[in-house]
Amino acid sequence: MNLRSTYCCPESGCDHAPLEQDAAGLNCPNGHQFPFEPGTDVPVFASEPEGANEYAQANAAEVHDNALRWVFATFHADEQGLRERLVARIGLKKGQRILVTGAGAGNDLPYLVRALDGAGDIYAQDIAKEMLLAGVARYRTELAGSGVSLHFSASDASHLPFADGFFDAAYHFGGINLFPDIPQGIAEMNRVVKQGGNVVIGDEGLAPWLVDTELGRMLVTNNALYARSAPLSALPATARAAKLSWELSNCFYVIEFQASTEELSVDIDVPHVGTRGGTIRSRYFGRMEGVDPVLRDRVYQEAQKRGMSRVAFLESALRASLAKD
Ligand SMILES: C[S@@+](CC[C@H](N)C(=O)[O-])C[C@H]1O[C@@H](n2cnc3c(N)ncnc32)[C@H](O)[C@@H]1O
Ligand SMILES: [Zn+2]
Repeated sequence: MNLRSTYCCPESGCDHAPLEQDAAGLNCPNGHQFPFEPGTDVPVFASEPEGANEYAQANAAEVHDNALRWVFATFHADEQGLRERLVARIGLKKGQRILVTGAGAGNDLPYLVRALDGAGDIYAQDIAKEMLLAGVARYRTELAGSGVSLHFSASDASHLPFADGFFDAAYHFGGINLFPDIPQGIAEMNRVVKQGGNVVIGDEGLAPWLVDTELGRMLVTNNALYARSAPLSALPATARAAKLSWELSNCFYVIEFQASTEELSVDIDVPHVGTRGGTIRSRYFGRMEGVDPVLRDRVYQEAQKRGMSRVAFLESALRASLAKD
């Protein structure tokens, strides 16, 4: 029997069409098929070829655990404290639905489950099947009975298999520096979160005042990703309430914003009362060719003499000249 899935087609041209589920996987009305990873209910939309990087290899989760232990010991931090603080920033409420991109082996899942307080849905995605399936093995059973449903998919964070506004919030930690197209990854989180929902993103990146210090240089020599700066310019132009801060001794940036696809509320047609005149729109779209600067100064003086703004004077002079011809 075919069931309607909560996943949508991420292929371009399919406009996130809802998928139907059968025993083998998820199917798009336009013929795209996304099989379940054998022996699991995890749909595979995209995945790195085995061996493509450190996350797409058989022992990836153990290697990652070891790297994390080193990071937390280095910054005198404990993993639980950091993850609890980051998850608290999302402001989750009981019953909500959250997306975790680049979820890796699922280290944030227990904290997200706790924050959802007995009810809700967590969709965890990662492009490395090896990491994701380790997360399934670690947490599917452990977190069963929490009242929170876990949904795992192998997919690309830059082409998410979800409808617009499907989530209450989105969260990412530790992998966005590696996304090949960071603006696209953030745009996707903004797209799939409902208007006003919280997005929290963190990764390596020194606070600017540490960049030119010996500690900063040592960290960057150790791992070039510490040289990354918080990708604020990659936020969508419609983002609201953006905040930037740092964690782990100011060596990991954390960006928070509220998702929105609505244009900012700006009236570009308010006339300026004063010497210059015009509006934000006319000053931008109405720019004209350069003229003799002596003539320009005479025009400005004449406008002042007549008590008109420069724009009002120029517009009246140009209209008069056109009317004459
Ligand atoms: C350092 S691990 C962090 C894992 C986890 N978030 C954590 O905090 O433990 C980075 C993860 O990002 C994933 N990743 C990188 N590019 C991705 C993409 N385009 N889409 C989804 N996941 C991606 C990697 O496969 C890897 O599992
Ligand atoms: Zn499709």
